[in-house]
Amino acid sequence: MRILVSGGLGFIGSHTVVELLNHNHDVVIIDNLYNSQISTLHKIERIAGKRPAFYEMDATSFEALEDVFQRYDFDGIIHFAGYKAVGESVRKPLEYYYNNLVSTINLAKLAIINKVPKFIFSSSATVYGDGVSPFNEKMKLLDRTNPYGETKAMSERILIDTVKANLGFNVVLLRYFNPIGAHPSGLIGEVPNGIPNNLMPYVTQVAKGLREKLNVFGNDYDTVDGTGVRDYIHVVDLAQGHVAALEAKIEGVEAINLGTGKGTSVLEIIQAFEKANGIKIPYEIIARRAGDIAVSYADTTKAKNLLKWEAKLNIMDMVRDAWNFEKNLE
Ligand code: WQD
Repeated sequence: MRILVSGGLGFIGSHTVVELLNHNHDVVIIDNLYNSQISTLHKIERIAGKRPAFYEMDATSFEALEDVFQRYDFDGIIHFAGYKAVGESVRKPLEYYYNNLVSTINLAKLAIINKVPKFIFSSSATVYGDGVSPFNEKMKLLDRTNPYGETKAMSERILIDTVKANLGFNVVLLRYFNPIGAHPSGLIGEVPNGIPNNLMPYVTQVAKGLREKLNVFGNDYDTVDGTGVRDYIHVVDLAQGHVAALEAKIEGVEAINLGTGKGTSVLEIIQAFEKANGIKIPYEIIARRAGDIAVSYADTTKAKNLLKWEAKLNIMDMVRDAWNFEKNLE
């Protein structure tokens, strides 16, 4: 199949493009390089042995997108392009609502005009809000605590209503838990802009000596050791979940969790990293981060049943591959 991948040079996008190419799909990437590098395109080619088509453009530009749809007929669209920093979204809500919603609306509109049958949306477990884990797709979505999470919930709503009005337009809302790690080649991985917001890239930068220590945001949660618990999933497992969603028979719209179903605490991540890589990670317990929930992990039943997919890699694989990428990064 020929697939349009928006944000295809980003962290999750690039890993998904590799898996699509490995499954003999043709890929066309659009990316505005706001949070990615053109060098990733060459690394994708080195890993997969094939070079996807690439167009530098912003998915908020309907005219630019229209041009790509005039060049190709697509069998599917995977929409990753979007801003994703929780803290930044609180400081810049209008940029987040504009960028994340307009890009989704543009691509859904063009999918319908061009009769593209499958639209896969990069959603997030953050849409569940401060609910009780394990999160399952039937749950009512509670209030989010930040504009980033709100843009994901609103995009889901927009796509659900569009499916209802357009027979033949099928949508999969993939709700990611916490994607970490990197391709085992060490060629592609997570390259955050500025100071990392997320745990794993911060840990790898401490390991590399770029940061003095890790600040652990609170150890007074009701968890195994008081620190936050999350469902970390290897980015390669997550990428393969997208291929499974693309190839599955989906009618209408389905929300599906992509997680491992297991929760791991911050201190357990530190211990696993130290064990797998033989590097000490100095840390200091500080106050909780505003907006954080204590525990988040997935009910993975629906992904198993509908996509015939489940995560295979474990925490040790994740922390080993994350370091293997960071240590090679110039
Ligand atoms: C994980 C745990 C922190 C950093 C968010 C978004 C989600 C997705 C991933 C975009 C928590 C703790 C973290 C640090 C710490 N976004 N932590 N010190 O908040 O679960 O999810 O990022 O793709 O949609 O909601 O991920 O990695 O920021 O935090 O102690 O320096 O690590 O408190 O318990 P989060 P995270």
